[in-house]
Amino acid sequence: MRIFLDTANLDEIRYGARLGVVSGITTNPSLVAKEGTSDYRTRVLEICRLIEGPISAEVVSTDVRAMLEEGRRIASWHPNVVVKIPSTEEGFEAISTLSKEGIRINQTLCFSVNQALLGAQAGSSYVSPFVGRLDDAGHDGMAVVADIVAVYQHYGITTQVLAASLRHPLHVVAAAKAGAHIATIPHKVLMAMVKHPLTDLGLAAFLKDWNAVAKAPLARVG
Ligand code: G3P
Repeated sequence: MRIFLDTANLDEIRYGARLGVVSGITTNPSLVAKEGTSDYRTRVLEICRLIEGPISAEVVSTDVRAMLEEGRRIASWHPNVVVKIPSTEEGFEAISTLSKEGIRINQTLCFSVNQALLGAQAGSSYVSPFVGRLDDAGHDGMAVVADIVAVYQHYGITTQVLAASLRHPLHVVAAAKAGAHIATIPHKVLMAMVKHPLTDLGLAAFLKDWNAVAKAPLARVG
């Protein structure tokens, strides 16, 4: 399973890039707005310079004609840009037209296997089930991810399952066990994946033992 960062924050993306563990980025209008900019294109191009991989940018239009125009414009920003389109009636129509033009689509705001099936038929390259938001609504978000993976595998569907709205490190483990192709995570979840207190304690003990012997006088033979 590949790890993407779900952020439009450049420092967070630099951190993930430096570790070499992040192979793509997902953004949405809320994440870009959180950065205090409405210049989505400039921010996406800055991200493309930091990460060599799929960078998702979302349309904000809701009717088909406007989604098509916006989707084509977003796709023209950079070859690595993937256009995020919501799982609505208009969205499916836009996905089917844009995917036929060779534009890669990340079908977002997916909350059911049915929506994932429709998106795959329409030509989505990625489908993003929102695990945390399903959990928030009293559903089992990860079960939806597992069911989408199983159904896609059964029919040899090549749309990649991108587990989104992941809120904590156990979500990432569960997404991997469910067979998701990609987990997109916030920076704080990446940090929580990196850190383990036993690693820090173990390293401190190794270094203490090593420094004790390294500082001791050399034993002489004969
Ligand atoms: O990738 C989707 C994500 O940005 C939504 O996360 O935590 O707002 O449900 P959340």
